[in-house]
Amino acid sequence: MPTIQLEITSGKLAGEGVITAQKKLSQLENVFQDEATRKSMDQDQLIYEVQAYMPVEEGKEGGLYFGNSTIFPGKVNNEYFMTRGHFHTKLDTAEYYWCIQGKGALILMDEEGKTWLEEMTPGSVHYIPGKIAHRVANTGDEKLVFNACWPSEAGHDYATIEKDGFGARLMEVDGKPQLVQNKKEMV
Ligand code: PA5
Ligand code: NI
Repeated sequence: MPTIQLEITSGKLAGEGVITAQKKLSQLENVFQDEATRKSMDQDQLIYEVQAYMPVEEGKEGGLYFGNSTIFPGKVNNEYFMTRGHFHTKLDTAEYYWCIQGKGALILMDEEGKTWLEEMTPGSVHYIPGKIAHRVANTGDEKLVFNACWPSEAGHDYATIEKDGFGARLMEVDGKPQLVQNKKEMV
C-alpha cells in the first residue's frame, strides 16, 4: 500500500504524514496592496489552505515533496485572493504546479523584478524554473485547487517578497484580471 492517496477529482491528499496549514486574512498583513481594506474585512476569512507530504527531512538533498493548495475565491478591494509567494531558499531549485480545479494565474517573477503570468485552468501544468519567485491568485468564483512537487532542499524564502513584493499585482480591471505594474517598478 502506498503511504498517501491523492483524491483525483479534488486534488486533496490523505494519509499518514500529510500536514495541513491554513492562511486566514489575519495572517496576511501587508500582502495585499490595500492594507486598510484587508484590515476592515473579516479576519477569520480563510484565504488558502496547503497540504504537504514531506517524506524526508527538510533541507535534505535529493528528496521530493508533494503538496496540494486550495485558494478560496474573493478579493481585497480589486486584488484577487492569492498566496504570499516566495523564492526558494536554495534559489536554483525548480518546482511543478498543476491545476486541478478552478481558474487563476500563476504569477512569476525573476530576480530583476520582471513579472509575468501563466493562466491556470484544470489540467494546466506549470514548470517553475529555479531563481523564479511564484505566487498563485484565484481569478474565478469557485475554489482554485492545484498540486505541487518540489525538491526537499528547496526551502521557502518569504522575506525577499515581504521586503520587495512582486513587480506587478493581479487586479480586476474593467471586470477582467490584469497585471498592474507596481509604481516603484515603473521608474
Ligand atoms: O511549494 C510551493 O510552492 C507551494 O506548496 C506553496 O508553498 C503554496 O502554494 C502556498 O504558497 P506560499 O508558500 O507562497 O504561501
Ligand atoms: Ni515553491
